[in-house]
Amino acid sequence: MHDPLTIETDLETQSLLLAAANHDLEALRNLLRTTSVNVQDPDTGFTPLHAAIAACEQEKEDPAIVMSDGQIDGLENGHTSGERAEASDGRKKELEAAARTVELLLQNGAIWNDLDKNNETPGCTAHRLGLKEIYDMVVKAGVRAELLLNRLDEYQMLGDDDDEAEDEDDFEILDDPQDASTIDIEASGIIVEPPSEDAPTTAHIPTNPDVNSAGYLASDLTFTADRLLDADKNGVMMAWETDIMRRTADRLLPAPGLRILNIGHGMGIIDGIFQSKSPSAHHIVEAHPAVLERMRKEGWYDKPGVVVHEGKWQDVVPTLVQEDTMFDAIYFDTFAEDYKALKEFFSEYVIGLLDPSGGNEGEGGRFGFFNGLGADRQVCYDVYSEVVEIDLMEAGLETEWEDVKVPDLDETGEWAGVRRRYWALENYRLPTCKFIG
Ligand SMILES: C[S@@+](CC[C@H](N)C(=O)[O-])C[C@H]1O[C@@H](n2cnc3c(N)ncnc32)[C@H](O)[C@@H]1O
Repeated sequence: MHDPLTIETDLETQSLLLAAANHDLEALRNLLRTTSVNVQDPDTGFTPLHAAIAACEQEKEDPAIVMSDGQIDGLENGHTSGERAEASDGRKKELEAAARTVELLLQNGAIWNDLDKNNETPGCTAHRLGLKEIYDMVVKAGVRAELLLNRLDEYQMLGDDDDEAEDEDDFEILDDPQDASTIDIEASGIIVEPPSEDAPTTAHIPTNPDVNSAGYLASDLTFTADRLLDADKNGVMMAWETDIMRRTADRLLPAPGLRILNIGHGMGIIDGIFQSKSPSAHHIVEAHPAVLERMRKEGWYDKPGVVVHEGKWQDVVPTLVQEDTMFDAIYFDTFAEDYKALKEFFSEYVIGLLDPSGGNEGEGGRFGFFNGLGADRQVCYDVYSEVVEIDLMEAGLETEWEDVKVPDLDETGEWAGVRRRYWALENYRLPTCKFIG
């Protein structure tokens, strides 16, 4: 016999998915009074957010074609201009209704990055269908959710250190019923549990979710001409990133005679380019014993201006700050660390290490980092590029972005023998930061 409660729940889920797919705002509002917005169809994995967006997909033979900017392209032969205008008007209304539906679902706490059975988040679907306005709405929701998650994390850490009275202050926001909808952990798309293998990259997941820092630093490494792999064949560094490293180095060291601090030597690609720019001081922090051994063999310890700091940046950098060592440029590119580590670095240490009157003409030092967070899917990358820009701003740094085209890495066979494709995008967004002012 079927459990009546299960049947009722299934019915509610299906009604919600149907109302979302039909962009029926009234039905949705009614259903959302009693049903959570975060339900999933057991067969497709669709949430109402997926359903609302996927319903905008056009049949192949549908004559009106939506362009990537959300505009309607013309109709093919055999249609009068009146028919064309009508179809285009109908499509416009459909997209407006979809946008209102998405807005309502997000306001009700729809999770921005749930995966359906096709491994797509709602943002991935909007991106694939070229629905720019809706895609941007999902990105904004993602940014809000991730910023909130990071803040809660920080409050949590403060709470761990402080006494009970301070704890209450830290969590004051949680007790404010007016803010409840905005900070409800479940409703904000915040994944508190450890992510599954397939989960898209978010704040708690390192750039590569298969590894953690301690495990990586204890693992054996394999160096070949075009890649550095850890013991599980995770790509630590790959030669296809050389163009990105070159452009980064050009921005950070625009002239000879400057002082550079590089965190993470890897294959030494960027350090080689920094050396070619004849820096007056070239400090390298590296933690992995196998990388350090290779650096010794390759003569890095004897190169002009080079100072190698053996150990984790977390242990090395506070001493550099204490000693008042200043730089014209700093680059940060580690492995198996999460976003929190990057944020800690630029929020706590860049201010003490980057010379505000440094640079080629005293215009101020520059900070750069490898921008790879969420790079296995466009929507996560776009969310994290915004999150990091906001956090940098809070740390007193403004960011300039340059787009760098990435070749088709599948076509060039880059991933053969590598455990996980950590890059799936056409464009790298290269950040260069300097102090605001
Ligand atoms: C992605 S690679 C750097 C690649 C480099 N930019 C290049 O051009 O070849 C990351 C490097 O950071 C090192 N690393 C990881 N965690 C670190 C930490 N906490 N402190 C210092 N180095 C670290 C790794 O051992 C690895 O050599």
